[in-house]
Amino acid sequence: MSITFNIRYLKNFVNQNDFWQMEEKVKAAHKMIHSKKGIFEKNIGWLDLPVNYDRKELEKIKTYAAKIRKMCDALIVIGIGGSYLGARAAIEFLNSHNYNLFQENCPHIFFVGNSLAPSHIYEIMDLCEKKRICINVISKSGTTTEPAVAFKIFKDFMEKKVGTDEARKRIFCTTDKNKGILRSIADKEGYESFVIPDDIGGRFSVLSPVGLLPIAVSGANIDEIMLGALEASQKFMQCDLEKNDCYKYAAARNILYKKGKIIELFSAYTPRFSMLLEWLKQLYAESEGKEQKGIFPTSAMYSTDLHSLGQFIQEGSRIFFETSLTIKNEERDITLKTDNENSDGLNFLGGQNLSYVNKMAYEATALAHYDGGVPGIEIQIDRNSEKELGELLYFFEKSCAISGLILGINPFNQPGVEAYKKNMFALIGKPGYEDLRNDILNRLRQ
Ligand code: PA5
Repeated sequence: MSITFNIRYLKNFVNQNDFWQMEEKVKAAHKMIHSKKGIFEKNIGWLDLPVNYDRKELEKIKTYAAKIRKMCDALIVIGIGGSYLGARAAIEFLNSHNYNLFQENCPHIFFVGNSLAPSHIYEIMDLCEKKRICINVISKSGTTTEPAVAFKIFKDFMEKKVGTDEARKRIFCTTDKNKGILRSIADKEGYESFVIPDDIGGRFSVLSPVGLLPIAVSGANIDEIMLGALEASQKFMQCDLEKNDCYKYAAARNILYKKGKIIELFSAYTPRFSMLLEWLKQLYAESEGKEQKGIFPTSAMYSTDLHSLGQFIQEGSRIFFETSLTIKNEERDITLKTDNENSDGLNFLGGQNLSYVNKMAYEATALAHYDGGVPGIEIQIDRNSEKELGELLYFFEKSCAISGLILGINPFNQPGVEAYKKNMFALIGKPGYEDLRNDILNRLRQ
């Protein structure tokens, strides 16, 4: 087993009866997604993706990833939300949150299109000034403003560097097969493109070309990721709350929510997990936060945040539960030394591995939080490698879908995201938004 799930720190908060009461809802949710009918038909492609993904497209991804690795010193990945977080989370999980600092003979990977701040765009352009670059622009709808603006800027940057013809060979689009402005641009300009399956929404798309192309450029073995996801899809298939940890997690979240735990704190003990926690926040927030319902997902990186958020977690409002992600086997370790004078008072740790100290920090924290009234769910991952990653991503995708259905919302849409977009379109003068623009300007003048 590459990931282990444990609910010993739910004991004071959740009992067997709570789980029994959830059983029918879990069964109904299982039936709904596995029937792939109704509102789910258009959004359920991720469910069987590890089994029936497009083999040809995967080979194409590997071929182009190898080409991109040779062609450039920097890959600029343009995307936002589900078109960005999965790839970045995976690359950092498998390598380091300092990934770029370690790359000497293969491309740096920069992520843009997730911020409109000129300083951010300038920084990446400055960093790429002397580099050979490639661009992978990712947008399922092909119309999202932030990546569209970033693409406009970086296309121009690239064309000035190498000319229009060479730029054509260096721009790769990941988008819908037929729809959207990005698809039209790709077809018109002759850019190489990768298809996002129609029935896979943004935040469920990491195992499609959306995530896999940048991940493959980082040098990761994407076959292994798909294999891990395949094993997970088999392991978490059974509709049995006792045996299916993925469903148990979804049920536990809903039990806790009903008991007033309205915030889920995802925590980890290694900075390599930072972006994975960001991916989780998006997955759960966009899927569940609807109809005035849902668990608000947030995150903490330990030990860092034990010295900032720790006080609140231990003794503040008792409105959250904690889902901790830990690593069983660290790739590298450090053995602590003793010194003759014991001048730092740490000789008692002499001969101990640092990973042991980190593990004890975890055990100590989980227990303290539990004693302080914070229910805890533990997810232990064997190691930071591709197969484990595939399993983990699938575990969370499926539990999110089941959890959202237990909650009684549609986990696959995100109608609330439109509100800010409409206001922004009006304010930046997009044609068709004139009336809203006048309304907003009047309100801002008041
Ligand atoms: O999960 C989602 O659907 C969203 O977060 C989208 O991924 C995000 O809004 C980006 O959309 P697009 O890929 O269409 O540019």
